[in-house]
Amino acid sequence: MTDKGGPAASQRLFFALWPPSELATALSGIAAAATRRFGGQPSRRESLHLTLAFLGDVPFDAMPALLAAARQVAAPPFHLQIDRLGFWRHNCLLWAGCAPTPALQTLAAELGSALAAAGQPLPERQRAFAPHLTLARKLPAATSAAEVASHPCTGLPAWPCTRFVLVASQLSAAGSVYRPLAEFPLSA
Ligand code: 2AM
Repeated sequence: MTDKGGPAASQRLFFALWPPSELATALSGIAAAATRRFGGQPSRRESLHLTLAFLGDVPFDAMPALLAAARQVAAPPFHLQIDRLGFWRHNCLLWAGCAPTPALQTLAAELGSALAAAGQPLPERQRAFAPHLTLARKLPAATSAAEVASHPCTGLPAWPCTRFVLVASQLSAAGSVYRPLAEFPLSA
């Protein structure tokens, strides 16, 4: 965000889990195959992530409190098994996901609580956590969710989640560009 052409006073931020390279490559292959079949614009391999909390524009002077809050999150490492695809008609988005995973829900809830305690509550509609990795955008609205759900998404490597990251998102004509700012290890 700029203030009348002056230097940016805030940045668009979110917390996420970033998949290991091997998994990102496999997911990118699925995104390519699925968009050949259904249409849409695949996410870039290096942009694939699972958002834990989207904050939107955060003033730079709120950063110390935000970082301190994230450091206080106490949640153990866990594994995710990405094994399913879905299509959301309201935003024409193709996503990859996993079976309900209590440790993931716990991490998102702990992070949400820590952020709220630090004066950075998540917007209301962020509170229903729907874990997903966006594989493609702009699919035709008429896409069949059932066909997407039965598209192959098997044999992916397990995802050891040992840290989460704070990421800055810059909007550009070519799509969002993500820049990692800090990482936070998970520990029991
Ligand atoms: P999406 O992929 O489902 O759009 C960075 O934009 C990340 O934050 C994306 O994973 C995006 O999810 C997520 N996000 C959640 N709420 C958002 C919002 N209101 N605006 C933009 N991105 C949002």
